[in-house]
Amino acid sequence: MKSIVIYFSTSGNTKNAAESIAKKTGSDIEELKATQTWPDNFDDLAALAQKQRDDNVHPQIASQINLDNYDKIYLGYPTWYEQPPMIINSFFDNFNLNNKTVIPFSTSGSSTFEITAPYVQKMANAKNVHLVNGFRANSEAEITDGLK
Ligand SMILES: Cc1cc2nc3c(=O)[nH]c(=O)nc-3n(C[C@H](O)[C@H](O)[C@H](O)COP(=O)(O)O)c2cc1C
Repeated sequence: MKSIVIYFSTSGNTKNAAESIAKKTGSDIEELKATQTWPDNFDDLAALAQKQRDDNVHPQIASQINLDNYDKIYLGYPTWYEQPPMIINSFFDNFNLNNKTVIPFSTSGSSTFEITAPYVQKMANAKNVHLVNGFRANSEAEITDGLK
């Protein structure tokens, strides 16, 4: 069985981390895309992120990803207001993760991985998904350390 890195990213940091993790682990890689577009400008994106969080919106996923051949999924996301973006809820809604291990990783301006971890744990618990402890991937050093 193989591993895959699935990431959500609007400004490229999580994409870069995901590419590095895919390279280091020999994983395939896919972007978690939404059907909606994300504003380029920070203020609009911030307002949208807050509204989605406050209204418990689970954005619709556009990506078609066949997970049959994978047993390990590295799941990457930026930290938004000390939480994962709401599309991470959609990830757990949309994919059959039975018998798979999910390893989350985050990028952030400064927040720790641990700040978002309880939210992902709750999503995983609700779907009976096996989640293992993840890591922040703000630098190559953090990625190397997190993959140990
Ligand atoms: C709406 C929004 C909220 C954010 N909230 C936080 C936060 O709570 N803590 C933090 O350290 N960084 C925060 N950031 C910074 C992002 O987590 C960081 O820039 C991240 O690496 C962006 O990932 P991306 O380039 O893959 O989209 C926030 C950014 C945005 C756009």
